[in-house]
Amino acid sequence: MIKLNQSRKFRKYYNKLIPGGSTFSKVEYFNDQNVPFALSKCKDAKVYDLDKNEYIDYILANGSVVLGHNNKLVNKAILNQLKNGISFSLPNKLEIEVSELLKKHIPSAEMVRFGKNGNDATTAAVRLARHFTGKKNVLFCGYHSWQDWYVGKTSKNSGVPGEISKLSHRFIYGDKKSIDKLFKKFANKIACVIIDPLPAIESKPNKNFLKYLEKKCKEKKIVYIFDEVVCGFRYLDKSVQGNTGVKPDLSAFSKGIANGMPISALVGKKNIMKKFSEIFYSLTFAGETLSLSAAREVLKIHNNLDIPSYIDRQGLRLRNGLNDLIFKNRLENKLKIYGSNSRLLIKFHEDYSNNKINFPQEWTKTVCKFGILNFGVSMISLKHNNEIIDKTINKYKYIFSDINKIL
Ligand SMILES: Cc1ncc(COP(=O)(O)O)c(C=O)c1O
Repeated sequence: MIKLNQSRKFRKYYNKLIPGGSTFSKVEYFNDQNVPFALSKCKDAKVYDLDKNEYIDYILANGSVVLGHNNKLVNKAILNQLKNGISFSLPNKLEIEVSELLKKHIPSAEMVRFGKNGNDATTAAVRLARHFTGKKNVLFCGYHSWQDWYVGKTSKNSGVPGEISKLSHRFIYGDKKSIDKLFKKFANKIACVIIDPLPAIESKPNKNFLKYLEKKCKEKKIVYIFDEVVCGFRYLDKSVQGNTGVKPDLSAFSKGIANGMPISALVGKKNIMKKFSEIFYSLTFAGETLSLSAAREVLKIHNNLDIPSYIDRQGLRLRNGLNDLIFKNRLENKLKIYGSNSRLLIKFHEDYSNNKINFPQEWTKTVCKFGILNFGVSMISLKHNNEIIDKTINKYKYIFSDINKIL
């Protein structure tokens, strides 16, 4: 049993003051007295909770840490910039330097606008698309943000006017019929198609489907948007567009850019991006220099090091270890590893359902007990070396016999 006294005390205090928590997944999946509630320190692949318990981290701050926590080079870049100030009253040179690096790494990037969260970039993309086309309807696939245009079509849509929700329409990844139905129904009224090109459940991008959308959007003069907030600078070739050769009109990047510092970028084709001067998208902190200096450092590291290939290899090592344990524990009919090597997802096998067990909750409780932090999704960083992965697999040997008992 791990000691969680401080965590339990802090949980009570926090909940009295911060309703719902600052980030949904951080409170939603750790809603149990037997899991840690808050962290106080992080370094490389490890994090420490308030009771000083150590965990190998596979959440990586919602996937926003790619180089590993508390990276020396990024810290140095931030400290150097700090000597000259944080937020300026006029634009700064870093905005240009980071834009040039993004242009270099992302095939469709001709122009760039900065924001703070993935949400800023996806929402700005939708507004720009509506302005550019003069159309209102949005076809989407994936999780995109907390904004009305997206949340209106989820189960947590209270507070969103129906007039807005009715303009957004969800389609199914890889399912041409589901998007064709929407193309037909909303015909000349569609502003954009926005898609997470590598959803958590998929092992690789569906190039055929993404190409199909590209062709259809071109034909119908619809703005084609990639939401690469998670996969950007994490998946092979630095982006799904780089990997598949599919070229969206606009794309949102964020979590992969600055190793945990808050920044996002909407990039895209000049003819559309230049229309930003005709709409309103403005943030006080969009040019904040500590995040930009972190981004410059991270993007420069990508010049010389194929980080996504390393992540893919280490993810595969973990995947093989987990599959081995699923097999040895005779759980092949109950559990399955989904997702790409850069974002592994363990859940009930598609043919198995067990309504009595809340699997993510049981999983989280069990892995935390053994010093691993995740809620079924495993993200990999540059610090998840062979030693860390093998140590994790060793811990999973015990975890799987516990999980087996629960199942
Ligand atoms: C695919 C995708 N797009 C957009 C977002 C929104 O990013 P943020 O939470 O930084 O606003 C997320 C967040 O998890 C995401 O997974």
